[in-house]
Amino acid sequence: MSKPKVYITRKIDASYLESYQDQLDIRMWEKEEESVPRETLYKEVADATALFAVLSDSIDEDLLSKAPNLKVVANMAVGYDNIDLEACKKHHVTVTNTPDVLSETTADLGFSLIMSTARRIVEAEEWVKQDKWQSWAPFFFAGTDIYGKTLGIVGMGRIGEGIAKRASGFDMNIQYHNRSRKKDAEERLNAKYVSFDELLKTSDFIVTVVPHTQETDKLFNQAAFEKMKSSAIFINISRGKVVDEEALVNALKTGEIQAAGLDVFEEEPIRADHPLVGLNNTVCIPHIGSASVETRTKMVELCMDNILAVVSGKEAITPVS
Ligand code: DGY
Repeated sequence: MSKPKVYITRKIDASYLESYQDQLDIRMWEKEEESVPRETLYKEVADATALFAVLSDSIDEDLLSKAPNLKVVANMAVGYDNIDLEACKKHHVTVTNTPDVLSETTADLGFSLIMSTARRIVEAEEWVKQDKWQSWAPFFFAGTDIYGKTLGIVGMGRIGEGIAKRASGFDMNIQYHNRSRKKDAEERLNAKYVSFDELLKTSDFIVTVVPHTQETDKLFNQAAFEKMKSSAIFINISRGKVVDEEALVNALKTGEIQAAGLDVFEEEPIRADHPLVGLNNTVCIPHIGSASVETRTKMVELCMDNILAVVSGKEAITPVS
């Protein structure tokens, strides 16, 4: 009997896939940093049973209608706003994601953005690289303390909790806003539940970890930035579309807020001529929240295990629908 075909939309080193070769016919796009052209994807899904997708692949009705045998889409991300869940349901396609395995790594990245924006690390390094350093000076590259400040986490899921854990080591006052109150997390992490407005008004650092949905679309808009302290530092490690970028650029330029650390953008990849990239008080990095070798390895394995489970007629391990 022929093996079910799996199509992987980015190049992944064959060593990660060896243990699956016996049971699956694995094909993949041959480039790591370039999306598979849509026409190629249409051809490949025509006889595929499983699709291993990344967050820049749009999995929609148009694609699904060309994939009559498709049983599962395994998305290599915890977020799945690139996937039309309704269309998948209609076509009886299971969708899986990669929760848990990436939470701590993404929390590390969130905290490193807090630290690099607060202490102006990127700006300061640029100074040295450009050979501009003349002498030590009292307020030279003076940033802002992290220790003892108030951290506001918007979205207290697994990644939000990871950030709170790290923040407690810095003696930060932790407050959060979430769709529903999480009393267990409040006790474990000494975190205070506050309204969204109060969080905006009273936090020194605001980290957003909410998924992108209709409700969170442009949640951080002009009105939100106006409520923040002028010393506030805004960090986004969730999805770019939860921010109105024009309003953010304006807030950063006019001093409405102090700085921003951004891993995600409305349009990715963001280009170097984007107004956000040109600002000195902003650290922009290329959506690397979960990018450690250990975690990306676990994400690949979880995608493949989900695929194997579904094509073998078992329950998916981490289904989202
Ligand atoms: C995710 O998994 O959704 C992250 O954004 C990837 O880094």
